[in-house]
Amino acid sequence: MSNSIAELLQTRNGENFALHDRYLNPQMVKVLKTIGYDRVYTKAQGQYLYDDDGDEYLDLLSGFGVFAIGRNHPVVAAAIQDVIKAELPDMVQMDVSLLSGLLAEKIISYCPGDINRLFFCNSGAEAVEAAIKFSRYTTDRANILHCEHSFHGLTLGALSLMGEDIFRQGFGPLLPGCNAVPFNDLEALEQALSRRDVAALIVEPIQGKGVNLPNDDYLPEAARLCAKYGTLFVADEIQTGIGRTGKFWAIEHWGVEPDMILMAKALSGGFIPVGAVAMKESIMNKVFNRMDRAVVHGSTFAKNNMAMAAGIATIDVIEQNQLLANATDIGGKITHELGEMIDRYEFLKNVRGKGLMIAIEFGTPTSFSLKTAWSLLETANKGLFCQMVTIPLFAQYRILSQVAGHGMNVVKLLPPLIVTEKDKDNIVSSFNDVISDCHKVPGSIWDLGKTLAGHALKSNK
Ligand SMILES: Cc1ncc(COP(=O)(O)O)c(C=O)c1O
Repeated sequence: MSNSIAELLQTRNGENFALHDRYLNPQMVKVLKTIGYDRVYTKAQGQYLYDDDGDEYLDLLSGFGVFAIGRNHPVVAAAIQDVIKAELPDMVQMDVSLLSGLLAEKIISYCPGDINRLFFCNSGAEAVEAAIKFSRYTTDRANILHCEHSFHGLTLGALSLMGEDIFRQGFGPLLPGCNAVPFNDLEALEQALSRRDVAALIVEPIQGKGVNLPNDDYLPEAARLCAKYGTLFVADEIQTGIGRTGKFWAIEHWGVEPDMILMAKALSGGFIPVGAVAMKESIMNKVFNRMDRAVVHGSTFAKNNMAMAAGIATIDVIEQNQLLANATDIGGKITHELGEMIDRYEFLKNVRGKGLMIAIEFGTPTSFSLKTAWSLLETANKGLFCQMVTIPLFAQYRILSQVAGHGMNVVKLLPPLIVTEKDKDNIVSSFNDVISDCHKVPGSIWDLGKTLAGHALKSNK
C-alpha cells in the first residue's frame, strides 16, 4: 500500500466534505452545512466524539443506536484483533464455525419461551427480509401486517412495511400483501388477522419513529391474537434490543414470547455490520427442511468471524458492566428530570421512554406570542421547531441529538448505555437552557427559527 491508512488520515484530513460533495451524496453535505453539523471528527471514545479542534461532543445518537457500549470499546477491539491474529479460516462456507455457534448460544440464552434457533445476516433490513421469507414459507401465507408509523428498514421488502410515506414514494411497486394496522389498536389487529391469511405481524415493541410506547396490554394481546389466527408474531428489536430499554429485549417489559426476534445495530459493538433472527425451532425446521434446502436463504458475509467475535465481546461488556441496570437508572432519571420541566415550559408537552430510548415532545403553546411564532414554523415545515432545539444544543452545548422522524415535533435520545450521572446532569441542564431560550420571543433562537423557516419555504417551492 503506497500510503498507510494512518498517513491518509493525516495528509487528507479535512477533505471529508469536499470528497462527499464530489463523489457521494451531496444532499447530505448540504444538510449538514445548513444545520451547522459540519464538523470534522477525528476521534471517538465511549459516549464522546472529538473534532479536529479537540472539542468534545456528547453523542446522544449513538450511530442510530449502534454504539450501545460506546465507541471503540477496548474489549471489543481486542476481540477483533484476536481474530485477525489467530488467522482463522473465515467464511469457508462449506464448514460451520465455532464463533458463530458460541454467539448463537449466548443470544439464545437471553431469548424467551421456545426460541432456540438463530439465523445470522449483516444488517437490520436483512433480518427483516429473512423474517418475511421465513414467515411466508412457514405459514404458506403471503400477507404481512405491520403498524402505522413503523420503520423496519429500506430494502424493498422492509420498505413494504414502512409507515412513513416519504421513504416509499417513487420506489414502488412494493411487495403485495403488506398492510398497516394502527399501533395499539387491538380491534383493528384482530379484524385483519381474522381473515387467516396473514403470515406474520412484524412489530417494533417501542416504535423508533416518535418513540411510541405500546399500551400495557397491546403486545401480550397481539401475541395471543396472532397465535389464535395462525400468524407468526415477530418482534423487531433491531433498535430496542440488546439492552437499549433497560432489559435485554424490550418485549420483556411486557412478558411477551414472540415466534421470532430480529436484532442488529448494537449486537457487534458498532465495529462490524451484523444482524440476526432468533426463532422457534419449528420455523427453522420448516424453512431448512431438506439437505438440498440447507442454503435456501443466507448471505455470503453472514457469520463472519469478526462480527461474531465482536458480538460475543459486546454481550460480555454489557454483562460485566451491568449496562442494563445503568440504562434503567440513568434513563429513568433523564426521563423524570426532563419531565419535571413540563410545568415550566409551554412548548414542552411530553417526555417518555424506557431505559435509554427517550422522546421529548413539543407542541402548540398557550400564550398568544408563542403561538404565533410556533405557527410560523409549523406552516413552513411541520416538525421544524425541534431543529430549533437540536441545533443550539449541538452548537452551544456540543450535544448531538436527532429529530425522531419527519413531520413530528419529537427529539429523540439514544445515548450509549454507558452514560454517567455527569452526562445526565449535562443533558438535563443543556435541554433546560435551550428550551428556556425557545420561550424568549424575540430572541436569538427565534432568529434561527426564521432562518430555518426561510430555508424550508424555499425548498417547498
Ligand atoms: C426497528 C428497526 N428495524 C429495522 C431497521 C433497519 O436496520 P438497518 O439500518 O441495519 O438495515 C432499523 C434501523 O433504524 C430499525 O430501527
